[in-house]
Amino acid sequence: MLILAIESSCDETSAAVVESTEGVLSIKSNIIASQIERHALFGGVVPEIASRCHTEAVSRITYEALERSGASVSDIDIVGVTNRPGLIGALLVGLNFAKGLACSYDLPLVPVHHIRGHIAANYFSSPAPKPPFLALAVSGGHTSLILFKSYTECETIGRTRDDAAGEAFDKAGRLIGLPYPGGAAMDKLAYEGDPEAIKLPSAAIPDGSLDFSFSGIKTAVINYINTLNQKGEELPRADIAASFTQAAVSSVIKKLGAALDRTGMCRLAVAGGVAANSHLRRALEELSEKRGIELFIPPASLCGDNAAMIGAQAYYEYLAGNTADASLNAYAAHI
Ligand code: KG4
Ligand code: ZN
Repeated sequence: MLILAIESSCDETSAAVVESTEGVLSIKSNIIASQIERHALFGGVVPEIASRCHTEAVSRITYEALERSGASVSDIDIVGVTNRPGLIGALLVGLNFAKGLACSYDLPLVPVHHIRGHIAANYFSSPAPKPPFLALAVSGGHTSLILFKSYTECETIGRTRDDAAGEAFDKAGRLIGLPYPGGAAMDKLAYEGDPEAIKLPSAAIPDGSLDFSFSGIKTAVINYINTLNQKGEELPRADIAASFTQAAVSSVIKKLGAALDRTGMCRLAVAGGVAANSHLRRALEELSEKRGIELFIPPASLCGDNAAMIGAQAYYEYLAGNTADASLNAYAAHI
């Protein structure tokens, strides 16, 4: 079975062709057009610009994905598309394009939840995680602990109550002068600093829940920087990056430990842009070794937004009968 997938929920337009051969998923092509340079000028994603860039790119990207895969539209069996959550104007571009394709070629249309898509990036690995498993989604918009009962049935058991992990990385990066998005640059800079230099609060809310709050770390960094600025002292940028990273990573590991205890799961799948963070990856490896659990993390190239992961989830949604007609809508909220 060949799946054509389209992703346009935020600032990357992506199209991919994914193949399922006897249930084993592989990527035939995965084209990603990043808009980051357009948004970097403003220090964050500008929704209106995102929609325009998706509109400009979606057709070209899709036909490039088909060409690279060696398939033509007539070889495609299903069309998968992200329809939630994300920037509504951005989502609608990919969704309407996918609807057009599905209608014109009489193909089943499969809506995909972006976060489920991130987790599905793990299904290309060998071995791939089989439900039930616990998942950690850490991206620019989400920090969630999700219990996957099957490929298509899941329950969010922990979430951030304010900023997402990636958003917090980007904001901390911005405060120390790194260009948007600062996550990857923070990752590198953290190696040059002392993670114990600055005491920062934990993002793991100490209330027995599995929820996070990253706004406290961010405010603590702002206060620390303001104090140094008032004294006219130079900012120890690397120490800030290292201390922030340590605080963010240890918070995630703490709640993950609690979630593993609570659910009794022995398989953990991690995904999302922040899963590319090398410090987090090392801490996750340590956690899985200590607990004797199986850990699945996609290669860094599949951690950020891409359509291959949407294709992987579309495959399982299709098997579960979750197809849609032309009335399919997009939703900004995480529902
Ligand atoms: O999953 P993603 O591509 O988009 C969303 O669905 O949000 O995640 C993007 C986020 C950005 O905040 C970016 O700074 C962060 O992932 N990110 C990182 C790293 N690489 C990307 N954060 C920390 N360390 C990294 N190496
Ligand atoms: Zn994402």
